[in-house]
Amino acid sequence: MRKTLLLSSVLASLLSLSAYAVQDQAIPDDAIGLSKTSVYDVPDPEVVVYGSADAGTVGKRADRSYWTAPPMIPHTTKDMVPITRDTNLCKDCHVQPALIGQKIVKGLPVPAPVSHYANVKEGQLYMGRWNCTQCHAPQAKVKNLVNNNFKKSR
Ligand code: HEC
Ligand code: HEC
Repeated sequence: MRKTLLLSSVLASLLSLSAYAVQDQAIPDDAIGLSKTSVYDVPDPEVVVYGSADAGTVGKRADRSYWTAPPMIPHTTKDMVPITRDTNLCKDCHVQPALIGQKIVKGLPVPAPVSHYANVKEGQLYMGRWNCTQCHAPQAKVKNLVNNNFKKSR
C-alpha cells in the first residue's frame, strides 16, 4: 500500500514537472495557426474578382458542393445587390414557377425551386427566401486558402 502511494506520488510529480516544462516553452507567433506568417503581420490579401459574365450568357451551372447545397451564382451580381425591401432583381428573373420541371434552356433563368415559394401556383415567394444572397454566392477564381481533398458532387 505504502509502496503504491509513494510510487503514484512520484509519478504525479514527474507528470506535473513535464507539464511545467511544456508550459515554459513559448509558442512562436507563426506556429499558432495554419498561416505561415506571424499573427502580428498584416499580409496583403489577394483582391477577389468575381466573374463578370452577364446573366443569361453563361449557360453553365456550377457543380454543387454537396446535395442540397445552395448553388453558386454563375453570372455577375453587379447592380443587382444589395437586395432591398423594394428591389429584388434576382426575384424578377428567377421566380418562374411555370418553368419548374421544364428542361433548362440556355439563356433562360433557372427557376427558383418549389421550396422557395409560399404558394407555387401563384408564384408567391416565401419571404424567408427574399434575401437570395444570404445563401447564394457569386463565384471568383481564387487560390484555396487551405488545400483539402473535398470532392464536390454533381
Ligand atoms: C437578368 C436575369 C437574371 C437576374 C437579374 C439574376 N439571374 Fe441568376 N440566372 C439567370 C440565368 C439566365 C441563369 C442561368 C445561367 C446563365 O446563363 O447565366 C442564372 C443562374 C443562376 C443560378 C444558378 C442556378 C443553378 O441551378 O445552378 C443562381 C443560384 C442564380 N442565378 C442566382 C441569382 C441571384 C441570387 C440573383 C440576384 C443577385 C440573380 N440570380 C439574378 C438570370 C438572372
Ligand atoms: C435560406 C437559403 C436560401 C435563400 C434565402 C434562397 N435560396 Fe435558392 N436555394 C437554396 C438551396 C439550399 C437550394 C438547393 C435546393 C435543393 O437542392 O433542393 C436553392 C436552389 C436555388 C436555385 C436552383 C434551382 C435548381 O433547380 O437547380 C435557384 C435558381 C435559386 N435557388 C434561386 C434563388 C433566388 C432567386 C433566391 C431569392 C429570391 C433564393 N434562391 C433564395 C437556398 C436558398
